[in-house]
Amino acid sequence: MIGRLNHVAIAVPDLAAAAAQYRELLGAKVSEPEDIAEHGVTIVFVELPNTQVELLHPLGENSPIAGFLEKNPNGGMHHICYEVDDILAARDRLKAGGARVLGDDEPRIGAHGKPVLFLHPKDFCGTLVEIEAA
Ligand code: CO
Repeated sequence: MIGRLNHVAIAVPDLAAAAAQYRELLGAKVSEPEDIAEHGVTIVFVELPNTQVELLHPLGENSPIAGFLEKNPNGGMHHICYEVDDILAARDRLKAGGARVLGDDEPRIGAHGKPVLFLHPKDFCGTLVEIEAA
C-alpha cells in the first residue's frame, strides 16, 4: 500500500543553523524558510535526489513541535511520511487493522498542499507516521 518515502521531518531548535548545516556542510539544496501557520511550523525543505528532509521549527503558541523540542532540546526525528495512492482507502485499511489515526479521521491539507493523516506512534514502532496522497 505505501509508496515513495515523501519526506523525513526533523524538529530543530535553531532553524537557521540547521539550514546552514544542510546547505554548507552537507552540500544539499535547501529552500528558504516557509511559515505554515495552519500547522504551527516553519519549514525548510532539503531536496535530495530520492526524497526530501523537512527541518521543522515551532511557529506560534500552540505548535505541535514545541513539546517535542522540550523533550528533545537538541532536536530529533519528528515523523516520516509515506505516499499512498488513495488516502481514504489507506485510512480505512489502517483503522480496520487496528491502527489509530490522530485527530478526527479526516485528512487535512499538509505542507505540500495535499491531504495528509497522521498515525499514532505507539502503533508504528515509536515513530509518528504521516501518510500523504501521492
Ligand atoms: Co510531514
